[in-house]
Amino acid sequence: MNIAIVGAGGAVGREILNVLEGGALPVDNLRLFGSSRSAGSKLSFRGREIEIEELTPQSDFSGVDYALVSAGGDVSRQFAGVITRHGTLMIDNSSAFRMDDDVPLVVPEINGDDALNAPRRIVANPNCTTIQMVVALAPLHRLSPVCRVHVATYQAASGAGAEAMRELERQHAQVAAGEPVEHSRFAHQLAYNLIPHIDVFTENGYTREEMKMHNETKKIMHDDRIEVSATCVRVPVMRAHSEAIWAETEHELTLEQVRRAFADAPGVVLVDDPARLQYPMPLPAAGTDPVYVGRIRRDISGRGISFWTVSDQLRKGAALNAVQIIEYVEAHR
Ligand SMILES: NC(=O)c1ccc[n+]([C@@H]2O[C@H](COP(=O)([O-])OP(=O)(O)OC[C@H]3O[C@@H](n4cnc5c(N)ncnc54)[C@H](OP(=O)(O)O)[C@@H]3O)[C@@H](O)[C@H]2O)c1
Repeated sequence: MNIAIVGAGGAVGREILNVLEGGALPVDNLRLFGSSRSAGSKLSFRGREIEIEELTPQSDFSGVDYALVSAGGDVSRQFAGVITRHGTLMIDNSSAFRMDDDVPLVVPEINGDDALNAPRRIVANPNCTTIQMVVALAPLHRLSPVCRVHVATYQAASGAGAEAMRELERQHAQVAAGEPVEHSRFAHQLAYNLIPHIDVFTENGYTREEMKMHNETKKIMHDDRIEVSATCVRVPVMRAHSEAIWAETEHELTLEQVRRAFADAPGVVLVDDPARLQYPMPLPAAGTDPVYVGRIRRDISGRGISFWTVSDQLRKGAALNAVQIIEYVEAHR
């Protein structure tokens, strides 16, 4: 199998390398791409040093079976033709094509079959906060349709990329040294702070990140009746997003049903023993694959179930989900 990673030196690209390194896919040939900034530098994979090539309109992807693309929406739009020209299947981590009717938007545990029909040779990887939420909602939806969701997210700095992680580290050092705190990737100082603003604001007062959760959930779960209202917040955590979710189903579910559904769901690990101080947290979740679920309780203000999820968005929210799409396509060829 021949694989290419576009944006290999970025936060998601490096995590894709880690997932492939430890995974079972038989990678015969791996090519790495970046901009002129990283071209020529090398990354190691299974004991070999591989040089990053500059992505240009002349780049030749013939013979590449799958291209995992994580270089932002503009690059995806600009180079999709170059990447797919010879039949390469492009797994795109950006938001460029997610809502296009002829581009499947896939979380393999939920709608893996959609990936088998990709007329433009593009499969979109959903937004990281959406993946984590739908992996947890799907088992409830199978018991009784989920009709309404309120969610507040607590999103790690790494969700904004490798430079944003360095900015958070720098800010902590600047605070400790009593120096002025600089910011460029974030709209404000993130260290010792929260920023209720991810991606740009839209006309209805929600941000685009929040609207992604609204729109992408319907497409992945094949159900336009699910209404999601999100508030997305950046927090000074390095890795792993957390989400406080309230979900209402058409028929009320018992707590026992909900717990069993989570316990049996693929990709979900239940951590819910408050008496022993066991609940999901970002620090222990960093670098791991599951969507952790805990703090499950019946909502006391009315109908619905409240719970808390944590997942490393660089793994299941990006790199791992993209690699799982390849595994699903390979297994169903
Ligand atoms: N971070 C997350 O948790 C996450 C989760 C889900 C989806 N995503 C999406 O994944 C994409 C990448 O995010 P990231 O966090 O990995 O960002 P990042 O750390 O800033 O990395 C961006 C990568 O894109 C490359 N790149 C930029 N311009 C390029 C060009 N013209 N040609 C080729 N490569 C180019 C960069 O290469 P150079 O180093 O050479 O400039 C770098 O490797 C974004 O679309 C993001 O929305 C991110």
